[in-house]
Amino acid sequence: MERSIGVIDSGVGGLTVAYELMRQLPKENIIYLGDTLRCPYGPRSQKEVRQFTWEMVHFMLEKNIKMLILACNTATAFTLTEIQHTLKIPVLGVIQPGARAAINKTKNSHVGVIATEGTIRSNAYPQALKNINEKIEVYSLACPLFVPMVEQGIVEGAEATDIVKEELRSLKEHHRMDTLILGCTHYPIIENIIRSVMKPHVSIISSGEETAREASAILEFHHLLNNGEKPSEHQFYTTGDLNQFKKLYGRIFKGKMEHVQAAIMKQACLGSL
Ligand code: DGL
Repeated sequence: MERSIGVIDSGVGGLTVAYELMRQLPKENIIYLGDTLRCPYGPRSQKEVRQFTWEMVHFMLEKNIKMLILACNTATAFTLTEIQHTLKIPVLGVIQPGARAAINKTKNSHVGVIATEGTIRSNAYPQALKNINEKIEVYSLACPLFVPMVEQGIVEGAEATDIVKEELRSLKEHHRMDTLILGCTHYPIIENIIRSVMKPHVSIISSGEETAREASAILEFHHLLNNGEKPSEHQFYTTGDLNQFKKLYGRIFKGKMEHVQAAIMKQACLGSL
């Protein structure tokens, strides 16, 4: 089998990035790992996020991947640079692509970012945005309820809408904000609700599309694109409950996932596998 692209996240959020990769690079094989057992990463310390992310990275390296995508903003914020410096394969995070897409979209340089507490605390988005354009005005907000809500499968209906409305209340006071970055890969799963709650003139940015575009350019640059004739094969792993993972995948992508496996990570919590 051709070498795969490794995609990691704390749970099902990174599937939004994997989905875009499959759409834009249909010949590529993807190995996905969601650390559902220990999700959410957002409220955890930097030390813990680093440790868990490195465990996932080692799991992926054993699969001889050709490129790694940190499809988790929290992991990107805390570990991208050190992983890029350590690994010999290309490593891509989701924050730079999201920031670039927002800069492209905004007409008045007033940009909002919603993300986990960890990502907001790290200041990674304002830094990435201001590195490109220092005049940009950034409004940041942590939304700690969104990831647990999505992992529980509450992705539509009145309960989900009420939670989103409440969490985004303070952000709506920034009347000049014309662009909003979904700075967590779980959030595109509830994008429709977020869109319905925000003012209609606000453009919503999710980094999956842009990340897949960059992955494609990097693979081409390194002569790593898969040009073979064989149909692509994907593997999905979770550290948590296999059936719950499959169910969420089916619910989110309206499709059936056949090959989900339990991830055995050397130092990971194996207790409930
Ligand atoms: N999908 C992860 C992110 O993009 C969620 C983090 C979490 O587990 O809280 O940040």
